[in-house]
Amino acid sequence: MKPYFERDGITIYHADARDVLPALGDSSVDLLLTDPPYGHRNNDDDLASRREAALGLVKSGEAALGASRPIANDGPEANELVRWLFAEARRVLVPGACCCCCCGGGGPDPQFARWSLWLDELLGFKQMVIWDKGGLGMGWHYRRSYETVLVGEKPGAACKWYGGLTTSNVVRISKIIPRAHEHPTTKPVALMEHFIRIHSQEGELVLDPFMGAGTTLVAARKLGRRAVGVELEERWCEDAAARLEFRVGHGSKSNIPTLFEDGDG
Ligand SMILES: C[S@@+](CC[C@H](N)C(=O)[O-])C[C@H]1O[C@@H](n2cnc3c(N)ncnc32)[C@H](O)[C@@H]1O
Repeated sequence: MKPYFERDGITIYHADARDVLPALGDSSVDLLLTDPPYGHRNNDDDLASRREAALGLVKSGEAALGASRPIANDGPEANELVRWLFAEARRVLVPGACCCCCCGGGGPDPQFARWSLWLDELLGFKQMVIWDKGGLGMGWHYRRSYETVLVGEKPGAACKWYGGLTTSNVVRISKIIPRAHEHPTTKPVALMEHFIRIHSQEGELVLDPFMGAGTTLVAARKLGRRAVGVELEERWCEDAAARLEFRVGHGSKSNIPTLFEDGDG
C-alpha cells in the first residue's frame, strides 16, 4: 500500500487499519500506542462541535464554519474494532512490548472494565493508568475529569520498560480544547510522549492504528522514534502531515501555527 506521507522514519497510511496491520510483520513493532474511537456516538453527527458551542468554547458561528467532524466507527462497532486490535497487537508486537490504549473513564458504560478483560485475554493486562486531564467533563452527578490508558504486555520476554524503577499510575496533563476545525478528540502530545518514553527507546518503532491528527507520530518524532500511523479520514491525514511537515502545533490560540513546544496541544 502506498503511504500518504513518509519522512524521517515517520509513515502515514490513509486507510482502514484492518487493511494495513495484516501487512505488518509478526513481532515487528516495539510499542503500540493508540486512541481508538470510544463508541461515544460522535459518529453520526457533530456532537463535539455542538457541545463546544453550548459551553461557549467556540465563538458563535465558528463551529458552523468548521466542517462537521464526526468520528468514524464511534458507535457500538468501536468495541469490535478494539477487540480486533488487541488480537492483532499480540501478533505484531515484539515479545515484552506494550500496547497502550486510551479508553474512557467511569460509567455508565463500564467500557474500561470490558476492554481491560479483553486486553488480558488477548495480550496480557499490565496496568490501568489514570490520565487526570483537569477540569470537569459534560454531565451531572459524577462529572468526568479523567480518562484511562490501558496497558497490555506481550508475554515471552521482560517488559520493555524504561521508566526507572517506579513511576506513578496517575499522570496529570491538561486536556486539549480543540478549535472548531481541529480533530475533536486531539490528545496532548505530552501524554503520548509519557508512554513512548516509558516503553520504547530511540530508533524503535511505534504504531498508532487510529492516529487521528497524528499526535502519537508528532510525539514519536520529537523523541527520535520511528512511527507508523493509520487514519481512515483523509482530512486528519492532511492535518497530521502538516504537523509533521511544518512542525505546527495544535490548540494554538491564533491562526498562525505555533512551533512545537513541550506539552504542545
Ligand atoms: C479518538 S480519534 C484519535 C485522535 C488522536 N489521538 C489525535 O490526537 O488526533 C480516533 C480516530 O480513529 C479513526 N478511525 C476510526 N476507525 C478507523 C479505522 N478502521 N482505521 C483507521 N482509522 C480509524 C477516526 O477517524 C478517528 O480520527
